[in-house]
Amino acid sequence: MRDLDERTITDEVLRALSNTSDIRTRKVSEALVRHLHDFIREIEPTQQEWEAGINFLTRTGQMCSDVRQEFILLSDALGVSMLVDAINHRKPGGATETTVFGPFFVEARPQFALGANISEGVAGVPLFVSGRVRDIDGNLVPRAVVDAWHSDDEGFYDVQQGSDLKMRGRFTADEDGRFWFWSVRPKFYPIPNDGPVGEMLAAQGRHPFRPEHVHFMIAAPGHETLVTHIFIEGDPYLDSDVVFGVKTSLVTQYEVCEPGIAPDGTTMDGQYLALNYDFVLSPEMSS
Ligand code: BEZ
Ligand code: FE
Repeated sequence: MRDLDERTITDEVLRALSNTSDIRTRKVSEALVRHLHDFIREIEPTQQEWEAGINFLTRTGQMCSDVRQEFILLSDALGVSMLVDAINHRKPGGATETTVFGPFFVEARPQFALGANISEGVAGVPLFVSGRVRDIDGNLVPRAVVDAWHSDDEGFYDVQQGSDLKMRGRFTADEDGRFWFWSVRPKFYPIPNDGPVGEMLAAQGRHPFRPEHVHFMIAAPGHETLVTHIFIEGDPYLDSDVVFGVKTSLVTQYEVCEPGIAPDGTTMDGQYLALNYDFVLSPEMSS
């Protein structure tokens, strides 16, 4: 193993991996070496460019903390997260499509009763959110756990403002698979772009925005947990989502509702919006 050159080094590195006992580790390692070497052969980086690449990855790691995962953001902005999502959710026809999880889910989210307002005291256009949970045969799924989270009307999540947990909550759907709650209309927003990922987007001439959406995570025994969002028709960023997460089947419209009695019996003094979407869970894969 001497005198290696640009023609022979890849095979020699692959040979060095031949004692890897775990089959999956060997496959991943070999593919990584082949693709990485091909990448370098294609790019032919200068020594300074190689250093800049190492520096970019170093700063990406240094940006990570308990509340910031810059590597996942990098994966999101390069379309890798959505590719992994697509590979892992080759769902049966009729099931609700999935999309990225994103960094703004909070494990300690508050639990609410159906009909609660998850954005008490938050400024914005009142939004009545409702839907039903079914299986792929059209049967209602009772008592699914429905998580929802979204930005405020200026495009910020609670956790970005260091405020109390707002605009997020967990509900248990009723026996007929129905859920409903009140909130405020969210807005399109930039992904965190004050770090290496933001620099990358700027260098690539890309904007950092995601279109307006509400995140949902829906879990029920015997079904795959669904992670998705609902997007709103007409948003300026629907066709250029910085993380490539939009699917046509997840785009819907608000109903503009006049003052009066809302569907849950609440009396509304002013106009409000209603967002209704029915979700379809796929059966749990047996492993
Ligand atoms: C989000 O929708 O919350 C999100 C997803 C990916 C990256 C940043 C934010
Ligand atoms: Fe989001």
